[in-house]
Amino acid sequence: MMYIAPSILAADYAELGRDVRAVSNADMLHVDIMDGHFVPNLSFGPNVTKAVDRVSDLFLDMHLMIEQPERWFDTYAAAGGDRLVFHVEAVADPRVAARQCREVGVQSGIAIKPATPVEPYLDDLEDFDEVLIMSVEPGFGGQKFMPQVLSKVFALRDRIAQTGAATLIGIDGGIAESTIAQAAQAGVDAFVAGSAVFGAANPAEAVERLRALASEAAR
Ligand code: DX5
Ligand code: ZN
Repeated sequence: MMYIAPSILAADYAELGRDVRAVSNADMLHVDIMDGHFVPNLSFGPNVTKAVDRVSDLFLDMHLMIEQPERWFDTYAAAGGDRLVFHVEAVADPRVAARQCREVGVQSGIAIKPATPVEPYLDDLEDFDEVLIMSVEPGFGGQKFMPQVLSKVFALRDRIAQTGAATLIGIDGGIAESTIAQAAQAGVDAFVAGSAVFGAANPAEAVERLRALASEAAR
């Protein structure tokens, strides 16, 4: 199964309800939370995600680009989060943080910046419902895809094949019609796309095209 996850970071915030409804054919929504400290940008907070949750039936994958994310697990679980994906660079022990996510009743995920290796987490995949490989430096939409991070996707795919872990492999940053095939071939399950979806004339059609390209490439 190929999951296309539009990132609402690239939506029109004055028309957020319209944009969220426009991608109801997607498989989940990607919700970027930035605090201006972990990354040099601010996005939106729990009041906005609550509003998004109200107008969408989609699963909300929340990408927490924030310091001390554990302090906010309760808040974002209550604000519509179905999975909380925190950065390994922001916590002392990702396994402990993942347990804390699950304790508030949501799925757990780890996000990994381009320069951070994945090897330290390969033995603990059962703790994480998703591993999100960043294919740009987190903080901004519309950046160029970094193909060198695909070696981490290969390593994850190998380990999941050996162990049968149910962990989803996600990729985030620069995913577009020109880049999605190589990510799918490497073994990605969930593709985040911001500008490629909301920058398109018809976001729903962009979702369908991306899903078709990913499915075709993975075959
Ligand atoms: C970047 C965010 C991404 C961003 C992707 O820090 O984590 O989710 O929205 O945007 P595009 O798809 O435009 O690269
Ligand atoms: Zn993101």
